[in-house]
Amino acid sequence: MKPLSRKTAIVTGASSGIGQATALALAREGANVVATARRFDRVEDLSRRIEQEGGSSLPLRCDVREPKEVENVVDVACKRFGGVDILVANAGIMPLSLMRHLHVAEWMATVDVNIKGVLSSIAAVLPVFLEQKSGHIVTLSSVAGRKLFPGSAVYCASKYAVRALSEGLRMELSPSDQIRVTIIEPGAVMTELLGTITDPEALQGIRENFQEGKALRAEDIASAILYAVTQPPHVNVNEILIRPTFQEL
Ligand SMILES: NC(=O)c1ccc[n+]([C@@H]2O[C@H](COP(=O)([O-])OP(=O)(O)OC[C@H]3O[C@@H](n4cnc5c(N)ncnc54)[C@H](OP(=O)(O)O)[C@@H]3O)[C@@H](O)[C@H]2O)c1
Repeated sequence: MKPLSRKTAIVTGASSGIGQATALALAREGANVVATARRFDRVEDLSRRIEQEGGSSLPLRCDVREPKEVENVVDVACKRFGGVDILVANAGIMPLSLMRHLHVAEWMATVDVNIKGVLSSIAAVLPVFLEQKSGHIVTLSSVAGRKLFPGSAVYCASKYAVRALSEGLRMELSPSDQIRVTIIEPGAVMTELLGTITDPEALQGIRENFQEGKALRAEDIASAILYAVTQPPHVNVNEILIRPTFQEL
C-alpha cells in the first residue's frame, strides 16, 4: 500500500509551480488530490494527468480571496472522498516593489492572497480536522518569512505572518487535537512567481537568485512536503527551510 492511500489532500494554487508539483507528488503516493486554483483549465489538465497515471484527482476552481469558494472546496472534497486529511495552503503571489513606488494595490493584493487566503483555507478545513481529531496543515512561508530584503517589505510581512499563524496553530492544535502543522520555507524556486512583479527595480534586485540550474525546482519543494506528510502520526515536522546551494541570503 502507498503511504498516502485513503488520504485526501487539498492543494491551493495547484495550477503551476510548487502547488502543481506537490499535487502530482501526493497523488503518486496514493492520495486523492483536490487540485484548486483560479485557472480551471490548468487544474483540469493536472487532474487528467494524475488520473492517466492511475491516481485520483478532482479539479476545482477556487479563488482563495473568496472564503465561500474555499468552503465549497472542503464541502465537495468531503462529499466526494469522505473527509480531508491534508491541506497544502500554497496559493500565493509575490508582486515585489520598492515602498517609495507606492504599488498600494499590490500591497493589498498580497495581504488578500498570502495572508487572508491562507486564513480562509485554514478556517474552511479546521472544523473537519477538529471533528476527526486529525489532519495536517502545510503552509508556504519562505526565506522571506525569516529575513527582510529591500523591495520585499510587504511580501516579507505576509510570509512572516504565515509563519507566525502556523506556529500559533501548532501550539493550539497539535498537542490537544493531533492536528499537525508544517511551515515550508523555500529560497529561490523556478516557477511563474516572478511574473507577478511589475516594478522593474525590484525585479532586477532578485534576478540573480532565479537562474535555471541554480535555483530550486518546484519538485524539490514537493519532495519536502511529501516528507513532512508521510511521517508517522507522532512526528510533527514543524519547519523545513530549503535554499538553493548557491544562495547566500
Ligand atoms: N518560487 C519561489 O521562489 C518561492 C519561494 C518561497 C515561497 N514561495 C511560495 O510558494 C507558493 C507557490 O508559489 P510558486 O512559486 O509555485 O508560484 P506560481 O507558480 O506563481 O504559483 C502560484 C499559485 O498560486 C495561485 N494563486 C494566486 N493567486 C490566487 C488566488 N487569488 N486564488 C487561488 N490561487 C491563487 C496561482 O493559481 P491561479 O493564478 O491559477 O489562481 C498559482 O497556482 C507561494 O505561496 C509563494 O509565495 C515561492
